[in-house]
Amino acid sequence: MTEPVLEVENLNIRYHTQQADIAAVTDASFTIEEGQYHGLVGESGCGKSTIAKSIIGGLDANGEISAGKIKFRGKEIQDFDDEAHNKEIRWKRIAMIPQASMNSLDPVMRINNQALDLAEVHTDWTEKKTMDRLRELFDIVGLPAERMRDYPHQFSGGMQQRVVIALALLLGPDLIIADEPTTALDVIMQDQIMAHLQEIKEDIDVSLLLITHDISLVFEECDSMAVMHGGQIAESGSIRDVFYDPKHPYSILLQKTFPDIRYPDQELATIDGTPPVLSGEVTECTFADRCPWAEPLCRDQAPPLEPSEGDPTHLNSCIRSHEMDDLAAEETRHAEVTDDIN
Ligand SMILES: Nc1ncnc2c1ncn2[C@@H]1O[C@H](COP(=O)(O)OP(=O)(O)O)[C@@H](O)[C@H]1O
Ligand SMILES: [Mg+2]
Repeated sequence: MTEPVLEVENLNIRYHTQQADIAAVTDASFTIEEGQYHGLVGESGCGKSTIAKSIIGGLDANGEISAGKIKFRGKEIQDFDDEAHNKEIRWKRIAMIPQASMNSLDPVMRINNQALDLAEVHTDWTEKKTMDRLRELFDIVGLPAERMRDYPHQFSGGMQQRVVIALALLLGPDLIIADEPTTALDVIMQDQIMAHLQEIKEDIDVSLLLITHDISLVFEECDSMAVMHGGQIAESGSIRDVFYDPKHPYSILLQKTFPDIRYPDQELATIDGTPPVLSGEVTECTFADRCPWAEPLCRDQAPPLEPSEGDPTHLNSCIRSHEMDDLAAEETRHAEVTDDIN
């Protein structure tokens, strides 16, 4: 097997604020294999963007990686400073498609010049090489090459998105991070972007970290996924494992909050309670307050991410995971009985 593109190991990230330290990420681990699309899913505030920023070396000034490792192709990059990131990693090896990415284009610069700028900062490519590459990528994302010298405003919103994807791919990165690329877009635009990301997968050897709050999007687009809650990874593994055989209560409940094409008539659930406040040290399962199956033991320590039923590629951080199949089935039976009575 080839080396994974990205390995996040026991990552802890804190934000220092005047009031308190925020434990934004606690002991997070996941792996993205070569050419795989990996989803990172969880509700707003659970720490997804913090992880993305730490990978690309762009944590906010008050943020700090307090423990753990980020390995890119086996090499530890968690301690890289801005300069080292720019030289070795950013754009060239890992590129980011930011949220509301259409707005990330420089409005007063032609696209070809934006590409030349990128190549100048991060590579020693000739102008011709950059332009040849941009032409190829315009073709891949379905934009006419004659438009390479246009300004961003000359493109429609959907085309601007494709330009952003082409620029992200320009320097041939191994990994693209897309942080909520479709949030705040309409369904048609969302579908278009996802279709492009799938086309790219066929044409180019690149991995993707797709960050979203929408578990159904991850299920449709990705090969593997991690579910996050309150700064902790609740569960990670292949889509088959995490989506079809979830072992963590949050993964089980999260699925029921999104429409499932397999059960179109199923009522959508909501998850009770509010996201946890993450100040200070995290010393318990951050889902315990909202979990229907929590026990006193769940508050004794931050639960470690461990193999589910001995499978080292399917990890979960629930100390009751071995009982979860039975507990969830019982809950479903109970709900059906209640439905029949009503
Ligand atoms: N610069 C910052 N200073 C203090 N707290 C922050 C900062 N950035 C994010 N946070 C907090 O860290 C937690 C995780 O945020 P974030 O990674 O943006 O979550 P997500 O992307 O999943 O919505 C949240 O509680 C958020 O309020
Ligand atoms: Mg975010």
